[in-house]
Amino acid sequence: PLLGAFNNGDGGFIFEENEDTQIKRSDFPSGFLFGAATSAYQVEGAYLEDGKSLSNWDVFCHSIGCGENGANGDIADDHYHMFLGDIELMHSHGIQAYRFSVSWARILPRGRFGEVNPAGIMFYNKIIDNLILKGIEPFLTIYHGDFTQELEDKYGSWLNPEMQEEFIYLAEICFKSFGDRVKYWITINEPKLVAEYAYESGIIPPSRCSEPFGKCLDGNSDVEPIIAMQNMLLAHGRAAKLYHDHFQPKQGGSIGLVVHSTMFEPLTNSELDREAAKRAFAFHSGWALDPSIFGDYPEEVKECLGSELPAFSLDEKNFMKNSIDFIGINHYSTTYAKDCTNSSCSATRNRAIQGFVETVGERDGVLIGELTGIEGSYVVPRGMEEIVNLFKIRYNNTPMFVTENGYSSPEMQEQRVDELTNDVKRVEYHTKYLAYLAKSIRGGADVRGYFAWSFLDSYEWLQGYNMRFGLHYVDRQTLTRTPKLSARWYKNFLTNNSDLV
Ligand code: NOJ
Repeated sequence: PLLGAFNNGDGGFIFEENEDTQIKRSDFPSGFLFGAATSAYQVEGAYLEDGKSLSNWDVFCHSIGCGENGANGDIADDHYHMFLGDIELMHSHGIQAYRFSVSWARILPRGRFGEVNPAGIMFYNKIIDNLILKGIEPFLTIYHGDFTQELEDKYGSWLNPEMQEEFIYLAEICFKSFGDRVKYWITINEPKLVAEYAYESGIIPPSRCSEPFGKCLDGNSDVEPIIAMQNMLLAHGRAAKLYHDHFQPKQGGSIGLVVHSTMFEPLTNSELDREAAKRAFAFHSGWALDPSIFGDYPEEVKECLGSELPAFSLDEKNFMKNSIDFIGINHYSTTYAKDCTNSSCSATRNRAIQGFVETVGERDGVLIGELTGIEGSYVVPRGMEEIVNLFKIRYNNTPMFVTENGYSSPEMQEQRVDELTNDVKRVEYHTKYLAYLAKSIRGGADVRGYFAWSFLDSYEWLQGYNMRFGLHYVDRQTLTRTPKLSARWYKNFLTNNSDLV
């Protein structure tokens, strides 16, 4: 069997046997899809080409500079021009599914009151056609962080219910234009994280309500993320209803929502910390999923937020309920949850919209897992099984896809190219997480696919280009793609071949 792949120091590879890494393709159901993921702003570039307008991220990064050295997504991986080669690369690595997102500003440069940009539609048509030609299943995310800037200027984006109309309009164009070939749809990527980062901590556009950044206009940094969530969730629910009523009967695809799914384990065995871990799940994944499956916010969220949480009307509850055909799980890390209702926690992390929970990486001086390149994110492979099982139980085994799972190393800034491409730790990460995913499937969890984040090294929202998650190395000068050890490992894993080539 294929086991963990490790560099033997001479440029060759040996496989090491150990329980965590004993994993092979045949441990997964035969129809299970293995893919890789990206998103528009992170890879496309061509930020003003062929009729695309400025997005919220273009404007944000141009004004403040994002990541190190004022990075931005103007060029990114130039996937806009290099997509054909990229699809060829996916094909040659045996990738069965590709998750990507559309750029809102490329399709609707002026929102719903402007024209649809034919060049934008054509670009995604070419991607989809070429994927299908190569036998790769497209998974299309409609909104993954970037939207037409005009919607911010005009309405204040997600703080305004008008944004729901804008989103539904975009979704309808996508269903109409691509739905004959796209069978897997994702409405929104990680809504809770967007609400928090954009409207509470203010670290992403439109940088609202930030503390300590001090840009909050209304002085109450709990209100805006709650409103933004309500608008995003209703936008999701209404778009999904449109799909279910008018497109699915003819096109026969399915639609889901992707949530940020950190696993939380109680810091201590106290009742309070165990409750805190449950609350953390409800506040992270449940805030979007409970409404999308049961038609209402989680009890835990209702209880904490009281009258600050807007209520769904009866009609809204009805269309929100069962609005997803599958759950998209972005899982990277596990942390401890510490109760803050009864003890003091750090000021910024214990607010009501966090469920009065502080996340902690350490217990008795021991880290929960090895630290990754992302602050507060640790390698804890068992968390994959634990989180999938939580979803299985809470949501009656609704079909699931792991829509993202991947590794960035804390040493990346200092590493040379040969070290970056010889990414033994990334191989280890994927192998171990897959082993626990297989375990959850053996235990009955209905998981149908797995996407590595990411297919390419790309622009990382808060850190820029030094935060490399890719299976392929991208040279920032030439934009040449080089398969890393992890890309070769993935290929071999997928073809049940134990020799790395
Ligand atoms: C989740 C996001 O969806 C993606 O855009 C991001 O790059 C990865 N996490 C890594 O942080």
